[in-house]
Amino acid sequence: MRTCELTNLVEIDVSENNMEISRLGALAYDPAPESAALAKLQPSYGLFIDGAFTDPSKHQQFATLNPATGLPLAMVAQADVRDVDHAVKAARRAYDNVWSTMSGAERGKYLFRIARLIQERARELAVVETLDNGKPIRESRDIDLPLAAAHFFYYAGWADKLDHAGFGSSPQPIGVAGQIIPWNFPLLMAAWKLAPALAAGNTCVLKPAETTPLSALILAEILEQAELPAGVVNILTGDGSTGSALVAHPGIDKIAFTGSTEVGRLIQERLASTDKRLTLELGGKGANIVFEDAPIDEVVEGIIDGIFFNQGHVCCAGSRLLVQESVADEVLRRLVRRVDQLRVGDPLDKNTDVGAINSAAQLEKIRELTAYGELEGATRYTSSCRLPDTGYWFSPTIFADVSQSHRIAREEIFGPVLSMLTFRTPEEAVAKANNTKYGLACGVWSEKGSRTLWVAERLRAGVVWANTYNRFDPTSPFGGMRESGFGREGGRHGLEAYLNV
Ligand code: NAI
Ligand code: MG
Repeated sequence: MRTCELTNLVEIDVSENNMEISRLGALAYDPAPESAALAKLQPSYGLFIDGAFTDPSKHQQFATLNPATGLPLAMVAQADVRDVDHAVKAARRAYDNVWSTMSGAERGKYLFRIARLIQERARELAVVETLDNGKPIRESRDIDLPLAAAHFFYYAGWADKLDHAGFGSSPQPIGVAGQIIPWNFPLLMAAWKLAPALAAGNTCVLKPAETTPLSALILAEILEQAELPAGVVNILTGDGSTGSALVAHPGIDKIAFTGSTEVGRLIQERLASTDKRLTLELGGKGANIVFEDAPIDEVVEGIIDGIFFNQGHVCCAGSRLLVQESVADEVLRRLVRRVDQLRVGDPLDKNTDVGAINSAAQLEKIRELTAYGELEGATRYTSSCRLPDTGYWFSPTIFADVSQSHRIAREEIFGPVLSMLTFRTPEEAVAKANNTKYGLACGVWSEKGSRTLWVAERLRAGVVWANTYNRFDPTSPFGGMRESGFGREGGRHGLEAYLNV
């Protein structure tokens, strides 16, 4: 049985597990693991180039791990400059000979087919995603997979309607798109990148992140199943050097990147003297703003979801909580109590709320920044749920008494760590929310619509949620400003990034 104690808040007699649990109001659940065998993983995977799996030219491979155990799941290929060259040339041939000349209606049929195959193989893909990434199966099954399919369905619908998308009478594709994605939503980010690019008539070379390549490789199998013409999508596994070679390849017309601000900046510098198009979706330090009139129970759930969803490995995470001073103590009290009820552990267990940290490197970064939080004087509340002995784990954590100058209020932690600040007036809330180099997402919680709109108008962020957080939909554009990047993904706006407009 899971044991918890509330640090810093109420003292609990931990000698009697059951009593402690019932006092917290948490129910005990039996383990309910999904079967890892559903993943049907192969021992090793090649590169997907020109419609077939091929060996990397240097025959180099690396292991992708299950972060919940630290054990290898499969070997994947390390693509080098020559493989990148093969993939880009295959994409160019496919663009010239097949994809850009095909009617939108025909392209749409392929996208519909891919969407349906993702649905058919959703259970397998959800297990693969959870094994490779560490995210709870509840999230991969109920969020990542349905949204990935929905993106293909949505853009399939646009493929034959580009003339009516508001970009002129006959908008043209850009050409070959190089797409580099991160590890936090591996399949979903692949869908966000591929679906609009293909609908608009581009061909693609996609590079998944090195710690989470597997769902993209299953997607390659799905593209084969869908009989997508060879070369329209090529998938190259590898590390940053593969991404770097893709950015540098002269045959690429556009780069779409999601990942760290540091690498985004590097890519922008590299492309500055070229005519390659670029969109960047980078980091964030989202403010979740709570006014005193907001319904407190919903607020607490929204804050929890805003920061602990996907272990906080979310670029738009509500990692800075701004609470109106009059309700700050009450919100903190309830939050600390709620955090201690989160179930941390086996990501394959259907009752798990918070899974494993994706990598040793990310865990190290979270530890370093939270250590600074204490050093700089913030008050730390940590759920003391027992963590598994192997793999990478971090207890959900809340910092109160945070000031704007603290590193934990300024830097992206990208982990299950919330920094709480307070404000008195709407003006102060806006000033504090905007006091960041980022500008990706914010949340506003209030019963009063006019106040929410007043605040939303003044927030410098690409996305503002009202009385909710981390809501995604393929019809809705998503993207940042300032150091969170530029360009929009999703919706009609998402087509613009892949059209010569
Ligand atoms: P990263 O930016 O290094 O990795 C993202 C992708 O870029 C991966 O596919 C990687 O192989 C590739 N890449 C790395 N170096 C490259 C280069 N020079 N040229 C082209 N591609 C390159 O991010 P990392 O190291 O995985 O995470 C570091 C931090 O970045 C995280 O702690 C988090 O704060 C932030 N991050 C933000 C994400 C977001 O969704 N906006 C996603 C992942 C990380
Ligand atoms: Mg992995």
